[in-house]
Amino acid sequence: MKKLVVFASGSGSNFQAIIDGIEKKEIKAQISGLITDRLGSGAVERAKKHRIPYLEIPEKNPELFSKIVLEQLNDWNPDLIVLAGFLRKVSDSIVQRYNNKIINIHPSLLPKYGGKGFYGLNVHKAVLEAGDLESGCTVHYVNEEFDRGNIILQKRVEVRVNDTPITLAARVLNAEHKLLPTVINKLLKN
Ligand code: GRF
Repeated sequence: MKKLVVFASGSGSNFQAIIDGIEKKEIKAQISGLITDRLGSGAVERAKKHRIPYLEIPEKNPELFSKIVLEQLNDWNPDLIVLAGFLRKVSDSIVQRYNNKIINIHPSLLPKYGGKGFYGLNVHKAVLEAGDLESGCTVHYVNEEFDRGNIILQKRVEVRVNDTPITLAARVLNAEHKLLPTVINKLLKN
């Protein structure tokens, strides 16, 4: 069985989409564990509920943080690492150790609205301010540059006239929950 490790900082709804995909046997893999940089995240609650091992690392020092992560990854030995709403930049040492084995989901059609400052509602505000007629989400490989690794797959959603950043975010998030399991499946089959 292929092994996944998920990194998440927030509510973990994308993490949940992976859990659901595995439970419905749409994703043929197991989750070895969850890594989070925040204490008391929604993602951890989901891990507890589904009896998935987790490690909370509230360490601010980037080098120490990466050291702890690498030690845990050595133990979990993942085939694929999925960043699902993970707000910290993954260090070069982790990227190099797991080259082409780390993917991230981002709530825009990259390369638009990616990089520093483009997270959460900021992304959707920028899309609406630019007057774009469509938005969407992207799954891409993680390299040393924030949101710049090779794109694997995108899913488009329409922007509606009455959209606010919140309504657009909800539509994009819904698309993320479909896109992420699809990509994971595709990569694990190869
Ligand atoms: C998602 O929009 C994801 O694209 C971004 O962070 C958000 C995480 O949401 N990277 P959730 O924690 O999975 O609900």
